[in-house]
Amino acid sequence: MTRLKDKFALITGGSSGIGLETARQFLAEGATVAITGRNAQALEQAGRELGDRAWLIRSDAGDVASQQALARQLAERWPRLDVLFANAGDVTHLPLEDWTAGTWDRLMDINLKGPFFLIQSVLSLLANPSSVIVCGSTSAHIGLPQSSAYAASKAGLLSLARTLSGELAARGIRVNGLSPGPTETPALGKLGLPAAQQDAMRAQIRELVPIGRMGTPWELARAAVFLASDESRFVVGTELLVDGGVANL
Ligand SMILES: NC(=O)c1ccc[n+]([C@@H]2O[C@H](COP(=O)([O-])OP(=O)(O)OC[C@H]3O[C@@H](n4cnc5c(N)ncnc54)[C@H](OP(=O)(O)O)[C@@H]3O)[C@@H](O)[C@H]2O)c1
Repeated sequence: MTRLKDKFALITGGSSGIGLETARQFLAEGATVAITGRNAQALEQAGRELGDRAWLIRSDAGDVASQQALARQLAERWPRLDVLFANAGDVTHLPLEDWTAGTWDRLMDINLKGPFFLIQSVLSLLANPSSVIVCGSTSAHIGLPQSSAYAASKAGLLSLARTLSGELAARGIRVNGLSPGPTETPALGKLGLPAAQQDAMRAQIRELVPIGRMGTPWELARAAVFLASDESRFVVGTELLVDGGVANL
């Protein structure tokens, strides 16, 4: 379990779901790990689960100044950054008529603008070689109702994996997208739906997946370990879909 030995890894949105499980697996593979989140209690809870080796940082992924402050914090304590997993995401789904400029801006700030300026902010710290992973979504490839703004943000983020790889490959920095399909995480509970509606939505989501079930954070984290490790050193500017076949079948 040393696939990430000697690597310094930052995971945004590491206090829950896919980010938290990825932090667990990165630590198990020998990495030094920092996780971010907004909610102090959730971070502390994650810290209790991950143990002393995880560095907990309160930071809002949707705020550019916070990304710059985060990069400064890392630079003060770490000699370099080998892995950045920009995982924090706003999963708001709404009918077209319910979006406002405010909810649109907030989602884009967290899902697209924040990750872009985080990569810019940590650029001087990124090692050669290093791996940047942005969390996309299978939704960027399908026409799921109510996912318009969310899917657009993820499509933009996946585009950054290509363009920034083109720009940064000469510096040894690979940027790739990791795109989950429907995955069992606390995210579904954050949509503000009553329990009965949540269950109905889960059933609908399962139907969407060709292999007939939702994915697990463990399955996504295995893919994140691969993209973070040198085993994927020839994987550059692309997207790894871990979605039970949603986008392609
Ligand atoms: N679950 C799925 O079915 C699915 C499918 C496709 C893609 N994804 C993507 O996978 C990623 C992780 O989702 P998940 O399902 O693991 O969700 P989750 O369990 O709700 O975890 C989200 C994490 O991100 C953090 N976060 C959210 N907004 C943040 C912000 N502005 N600043 C800092 N941290 C923030 C949350 O902590 P705080 O709220 O405390 O900040 C939490 O730690 C997201 O990018 C999501 O779009 C998920």
